[in-house]
Amino acid sequence: MNIRDITLAPSGRDKIDWVKPAMPVLSGLEREFRKTLPFRGLRMTISIHLEAKTAYFAQVLRAGGADVAVTGCNPLSTQDDVAAALAAEGFDVCGVTGATMEQYHEHLLGALAHKPHLIIDDGGDLTEILADERPDLAVNLIAGTEETTTGVHRLHSRAKAGTLPFPMMAVNDAKCKYLFDNRYGTGQSVWASILHVTNLVIASKTVVVAGYGWCGRGIAMRADALGAKVVVTEVDPHRALEAAMDGYTVLPMENAAEVGDIFVTATGCRDVIRKEHMARMKNEAILCNAGHFDVEISIPDLRALAESVRQRKPSIEGYYLPDGRVLNLLAEGRLVNLAAGNGHPAEIMDLSFAVQALTAAHLADIGRTLTPGVYNVPERIDRDVAVRKLAAMGLTIDVLSSGQRAYLGF
Ligand SMILES: NC(=O)c1ccc[n+]([C@@H]2O[C@H](COP(=O)([O-])OP(=O)(O)OC[C@H]3O[C@@H](n4cnc5c(N)ncnc54)[C@H](O)[C@@H]3O)[C@@H](O)[C@H]2O)c1
Repeated sequence: MNIRDITLAPSGRDKIDWVKPAMPVLSGLEREFRKTLPFRGLRMTISIHLEAKTAYFAQVLRAGGADVAVTGCNPLSTQDDVAAALAAEGFDVCGVTGATMEQYHEHLLGALAHKPHLIIDDGGDLTEILADERPDLAVNLIAGTEETTTGVHRLHSRAKAGTLPFPMMAVNDAKCKYLFDNRYGTGQSVWASILHVTNLVIASKTVVVAGYGWCGRGIAMRADALGAKVVVTEVDPHRALEAAMDGYTVLPMENAAEVGDIFVTATGCRDVIRKEHMARMKNEAILCNAGHFDVEISIPDLRALAESVRQRKPSIEGYYLPDGRVLNLLAEGRLVNLAAGNGHPAEIMDLSFAVQALTAAHLADIGRTLTPGVYNVPERIDRDVAVRKLAAMGLTIDVLSSGQRAYLGF
């Protein structure tokens, strides 16, 4: 165990209690797992942003019989009180907020010392350690799941290079994950954090969203709803067209840089905002990132351009340029909704973690039969989660008649 302060546990417990009623699908699975014990005798390591929804997810896996170790997946997103609450319940927890990269790495190793049978990764750092650095900690490993787009990209690169030694399921690519978490979850939580951190108005401002993928379209949609003028930058012609047809201005970053008041990157790519763009930005422009890693805004370029850097407010660093302009970087360029906020709404994580829980149970059951590689979540699980969520929301839908099924060729 490696946490900041166990006396913070009551506050963490309150946070976990707050999210539970908003996660009815996960609560239903918790009840089922208590009876079926799909993880009996298995050890699991979770590396996901360590906040209240993740803590509840860990509790649900434990209800299913797992012995669970928990760590974060980003040095800034762990909430110390939530980590303390889990530790007080006897979970093996490694993680502190504001960890250095060395500490962060140590925490991942600490959670892997558990020698898990199943891993739940978010971004690929846990997988990298098990595959490259400490394969000895993978002796029991059956399989794992990956939560986010960047982690799935990393898995595919490994599989292509022949360096993925175990089976991993791409939870991100389930419809019940990316359609809701990446789009509506990121869309809401990014703005919740920007609003909280800056306390500035969004209406009438020009917001530049880099990347019109699932996250980017959520961020653009909510910026639009807040009254912003939205500009999208893209490298994919179809996605750029979609942005244009959705009513947004599409520009290369070179031109967007001159008009933007707030920049949000959500590409999963690196160096999307560079010094040539920063050189053109308005005084007091705000820069932040929603992509998994802090490489989308070139911080080395910002540092090289600035003559001084000053913390202006919590989670806002001002980079003062010799020409008198200041560019404001939120949350050190790390994903702003988690490093300077509470992440996605609980109702959204209800879907993501329900997919995770059912996929993990599936892997506990059949994972030993899989060869190393990247697998999709079975359609039956994806559909099951959608059906459960609709029921939890009190929504009903039509059912195809036999004539309609025949007409559609089912
Ligand atoms: N902040 C969060 O809570 C959160 C949630 C889910 C995913 N993510 C992360 O956000 C990132 C994006 O995820 P996604 O699901 O939207 O991916 P996606 O693949 O659906 O979309 C990414 C988009 O960025 C575009 N792009 C790539 N390089 C670009 C560049 N240099 N300039 C402009 N556009 C570029 C791509 O063409 C694509 O349309 C990933 O790193 C993912 O892991 C973050």
